[in-house]
Amino acid sequence: MKITVVGAGAVGASCAEYIAIKDFASEVVLLDIKEGFAEGKAMDLMQTASLNGFDSKITGTTGDYSKTANSDIAVITSGIPRKPGMTREELIGINADIVKTVAESLLEHSPNVILIVVSNPMDTMTYLVHKVTNLPKSRIIGMGGALDSARFKYRLAEALEAPISDVDGMVVGAHSDTGMIPLAKHATRNSIKVSEFLSNDRLQQVVEDTKVGGATLTKLLGTSAWYAPGAAVSALVQAIACDLKKMFPCSVMLDGEYGLEDICLGVPVVLGKNGIEQIVNIELDESENAKMQESAAAVRNVNALLDS
Ligand code: 2OP
Repeated sequence: MKITVVGAGAVGASCAEYIAIKDFASEVVLLDIKEGFAEGKAMDLMQTASLNGFDSKITGTTGDYSKTANSDIAVITSGIPRKPGMTREELIGINADIVKTVAESLLEHSPNVILIVVSNPMDTMTYLVHKVTNLPKSRIIGMGGALDSARFKYRLAEALEAPISDVDGMVVGAHSDTGMIPLAKHATRNSIKVSEFLSNDRLQQVVEDTKVGGATLTKLLGTSAWYAPGAAVSALVQAIACDLKKMFPCSVMLDGEYGLEDICLGVPVVLGKNGIEQIVNIELDESENAKMQESAAAVRNVNALLDS
């Protein structure tokens, strides 16, 4: 199993590290445009192999896509991260051209590759990759909901004063500060609805804290987060590489599901060896469905900037 990660910055390198430590890939290729950067990160990571106990081979390359040839899965993290106070959507001007070029270059050397898009604004970048590659919709996956759901569970466990392993929750909709939808009514603590333990006000605070989870970290760090994004991507890669049939909320091209079409938005999907094995239609109540439609409308406005 060969995995390529484009962008050896904090998110890409963390993703490569988690993939290597999980040891399900024979080869991980890190690619960056900065001279020697990917090679250095790969070598540094390989020098952890005896300490972290993995046999995956990590290599780096400066912009040579021939080294990514015949990748089974490729992750696109390249582009600029946001700064404090910025929205993800403000990155579109620079990141769109980068993501387009990267997707085309990957496909040139790996015609059967499954693409995972991380670069922001992620839902729109995922949509862009569909438009420039025309790949089957099962082979293009946007990573946002897996990260947002991890943050949702973190906030739920904090509010419940419970171990995170007791908590489950999912975030759907756009990977944006205003468009994401933590499904509070579906969240559970050991199969019991969290509303049995938390007041409406406290649960709403969990929802609001989740929605700005990325912005909160960007304010603290001065740049976008990387550990949880990298871990979320590695979980999607592992589900595909190991054919786990595991469910995650991912940004996928909708063709009538949730009453939406010609848009990429976060919905629950089952991931396996073919990429998206199934788009799962869950029952949303009136309020949740209204939020989904609003979220879609906001993403469409950002998508429209691609043509401008
Ligand atoms: C985040 O939410 C980088 O969009 C990513 O941290």
